[in-house]
Parts: sequence; C-alpha cells; structure tokens
Amino acid sequence: MKQLINNDIYYLGVSDRRLKDFENYIPLTNGVSYNSYLILDDKTCLLDTVDALKSVEFFKNLEETLENRTLDYLVVHHMEPDHCALIKEILLRYPNVTVVSNVQTFKMIKQFFNLDIVNKKEVKEGDILNLGHHELKFIFAPMVHWPEVMFSYDIITKTLFSADAFGCFGALSGNLFYDEVKDETYFSEARRYYANIVGKYGANVCNAYNKIKDLEIKQIFPLHSYLWRKDFNLIIDRYIKWATYEPEDKEVVIFYASMYGNTAEAANNLAILLAKKGLKNIKIYDVSQTDETYLISEVFRVSHIVLMCPTYNLGLYPKMSSLLATMQKLNVQKRTFALIENGTWGPLANKIMTEEVNKLKSVKILDKKITIKSSSNKQNELDLENLAEEIVNSIK
Ligand code: FEO
Repeated sequence: MKQLINNDIYYLGVSDRRLKDFENYIPLTNGVSYNSYLILDDKTCLLDTVDALKSVEFFKNLEETLENRTLDYLVVHHMEPDHCALIKEILLRYPNVTVVSNVQTFKMIKQFFNLDIVNKKEVKEGDILNLGHHELKFIFAPMVHWPEVMFSYDIITKTLFSADAFGCFGALSGNLFYDEVKDETYFSEARRYYANIVGKYGANVCNAYNKIKDLEIKQIFPLHSYLWRKDFNLIIDRYIKWATYEPEDKEVVIFYASMYGNTAEAANNLAILLAKKGLKNIKIYDVSQTDETYLISEVFRVSHIVLMCPTYNLGLYPKMSSLLATMQKLNVQKRTFALIENGTWGPLANKIMTEEVNKLKSVKILDKKITIKSSSNKQNELDLENLAEEIVNSIK
C-alpha cells in the first residue's frame, strides 16, 4: 500500500515477523523492518531495497507507488543484503535505472551478485544528486556498519537518510514515526542492535556524527525501525554515549555462570546486600540462560559489572569465556568490574578473568576478589559483604 511520509517521499519498507535470528545470529522477539524510500520528483529515486524474503511485497508496493512511472535512480546506501538483495531484480524490471553509490559498493555488488553494473553513477563524499527539486548530498559513514556505508542528506526537506545508524530491531505496525508509538522496549532493543552490530566501531560512529552534527535536520530516516521527525536527542544522545563507550546508567549487573547453583546463590546474596545498601535497579543474569546479545546490551548500559564464574577445564566456563571475548571484540571500555570465582580443587577463574578484563581499555577491577570453594562458607559471606561495600563506594 502507498505510504506517503511527506512532500513526495514515500515509505516502501516491509516488516518481517517470521525471521527468528537477525544475521542468523541475533534473536528477534518482534521481527525486524527493512526500510526503503521512494522519492517521486522530476526523476524517480529509490533509496535502498529490502531483504530477498520480502521481495513480492516490496515490488508490489514499488509498482503501486510509481504509478506507471519508471525508475530513474536506485541509491545504495549500504550493500548488506538485508537492504540490497533485490538489486538484480530492480535491474531486470527497470533496465534503464542508474545505480548510484560509491566505488566500494560497486566492488561489493560484483562480489555478492557477480554483477557489473553498466548504468552507474559513482559518487564521492559531498557529491550531490539532483532529482529536480530534491537534492541528495552524500556523506560517507564507513563502518557504520560496513566500510561502504554512506548517508544522504536531502538539502530541500532536510532529511537524513542514515542507513543502519539510528536503527533498531522490531517490526513496524502501521505507525512509522517513533513519536506515534509507546514502545517500552525501543531503547533497550536499539542498544542491543547498536552494541552487537556496530558497537566495535565507536570511533567511526563518532566520525560520522561529526559530519552530521551541524546539519539542520528535520527528519531522520534509517534503514530499520521507526523514523524520527522530532526529539532527535532521545536517540542521538544515546548514540554518543554508546559510541564513546560511556555507561548510560551508574548501576550494577551481575553475570554469573553456575553449574550446580552455588555461584547462583552467591549472586543472589550479593544482589540482596547491594539492595540493602541502597542500590537500585540491580540486574542478575545467568550467562547460560540469557542470549549473549542481551548481555552485551547490558554491558553497554551500566557502569559496574560483576563477573562470577566457575573454573572449567582449567579455564573459564565457556559462556563466560565467550562473553569476555565478545566484550573485547566490541571494544568495550570505561567499566568497573568485580570478580568472583568458584572452583572445587584448582580455582583459576579470577586469574583468567583478570587477564581478560585487563585487555579492555580504561577499566578498573575492584580490589576485593572472592574465591568460593564449591559452596559459600562463613568467610565468603563476609567477603560478599565487603565486596558489596566496595561496589557501593565505587558507584558513589
Ligand atoms: Fe541493516 Fe548492516 O544492514
């Protein structure tokens, strides 16, 4: 169905509620939308396509919205197949279309589709595509999320087409703009999306932000989830925090691994002690039971992280080992850690966790490290009390 957003910009996105895992890896609880836009100016211009799984719906909408006009331009902001899987079919249906993107994108199109595009317009940073009235200025944003990514800024409507930036998981339900919905999970899902997909590239996100921060922006149209036309600071302020690895909340999460429940019990006891000392919104996660992408989202949110881990095969319990490795890959920084290990005959987890945490930049490990031998004893109860005190003092 035709969906006019404003002026002569139409929404051509589709929502997928069947997909279980984004990139076959990240669990989705409410699907995902692939946003695409069509500008009907003197020239017609499609901004990105959608995932191949939704091609029938997409082309039906495209034909209906074009109303017998042909397609003059296809702008590819991002070559990942969730947005450009349908390029080949676009070329078959609209053989005179000119594909507009940068040199890196055309190289990737060749790699993905073995396709040498003849009608192409290769753009550089700052180039402008004139559609008659609309003028799209290209702003390169490498590594937000892939190296070829670029934004475009419509000088006339002051719309920023932001590719993956400012996107989120979640299917759309009629309402396109964030200000039209009450979506309680939006920001936790936006963080999960950002942290797991783009989190590694904070410096690149800052570079891209510096290019757009002085633009007059009236609308932000990303490639996933809601569109923005006001209150931009709600999402931009968070992006700045995430990109600079600053915690959003001075709060504690406890990540524990527990085979027989003893480390879990200690995690609960630590949380109770922290609550008694006045801390709010403490969160406990069993790393074996919660998907790592949610844990990583919490890592990007809080200032203080407690890791509680048994020794396993003379190393770390696998799920904890994976969590720490992912933190390193994503460049997590500027956090305070507390460490608790459990081991029945040769506890090594604190030593290994210390080494792994110290591979992160600008982190602090609290002095009090606790060793539980199989199950907590009286000394461990005192240890937990002292650690809780140290955590609270550190947060203050
Ligand atoms: Fe939504 Fe990086 O693709």
